[in-house]
Amino acid sequence: MLPATLHQLKVFETAARQGSFTKAAAELSITQPTVSGQIKQLTQTIGMPLFEHIGRKLYLTEAGEELLTTCKEIFGHLDNLEMKLSALKGAKQGQLHLGVITTTKYFVPRILGEFCQSYPDIEVSLQVVNHDQLHDRMASNQDDLYILSNLPGDLEVHSEAFLDNPLVVVARSDHPLAGKTNVPLSALRGEDFISREMGSGTRRAVESLFKSNDIEVQIRLELGSNEAIKQAIAGGLGISVLSRHTLITEPTDGELAVLDINHFPIQREWYVAYLAGKKLSVIAEAFREFMLKSSQVALQHSGRRSLALL
Ligand code: PGA
Repeated sequence: MLPATLHQLKVFETAARQGSFTKAAAELSITQPTVSGQIKQLTQTIGMPLFEHIGRKLYLTEAGEELLTTCKEIFGHLDNLEMKLSALKGAKQGQLHLGVITTTKYFVPRILGEFCQSYPDIEVSLQVVNHDQLHDRMASNQDDLYILSNLPGDLEVHSEAFLDNPLVVVARSDHPLAGKTNVPLSALRGEDFISREMGSGTRRAVESLFKSNDIEVQIRLELGSNEAIKQAIAGGLGISVLSRHTLITEPTDGELAVLDINHFPIQREWYVAYLAGKKLSVIAEAFREFMLKSSQVALQHSGRRSLALL
């Protein structure tokens, strides 16, 4: 079949990923007619339509899906080759794509900063999203490495647990339960509660604990950001459950308090993971090792298992 050029495949892969010819043109800094032209030629080469337009939306046909899978493999191999050649030249160039859950933003950017001092010429993309969005990114092989707490059940991954990610009940420091010890879970019944959005792993863990203990809370507000939830708690809108890592920037005698409620903390861990079929690039492997080592060094210094407690 193939007089298809790499350029055509790149244009196709970008349009498929972006779901739009216009966005693909912007990403590749070419014109929209060029995108259409390249995809038209590729369609003729393949002999089957690659996209269908339904309303204003662009969908991949079955042939398009197949071609997209192949494109990802080809570009993955080429990225890897580029990095291997760079490593051979000692230039340490290349790209690093990371997908991480919301709570890791208190930790990963710092580690990245240190890592980039040794690899100043690499290009990094860091996507900070919730668990469901991260699982979607994993399913479509969008990043090299992922950091998350709930591994996807339907994908084969290599994973390594490296730090605790406990969930705690957070309230304003003048809450009547603040400072009390060993409070039963039932004391939360009827509390005004601020919840994370659907798709959040934190939300799923809390719902499951409350459900299995028959606890009903009043959801006053649903927010898609841990930082916004902290502000809402401080503003008196209710209590919430958050990863202890989100409190890393809070003073211990500040506006927020962690309540000592039975069944909490909900114990979870952060994992660094990558897809089982994926050959990690030289840079991605170097970053994985660097991150595991940095977290262990930080923990040895603190003598604890959770960085949020440092
Ligand atoms: P979430 O994940 O953003 O999906 O809630 C955060 C976490 O589990 O720590």
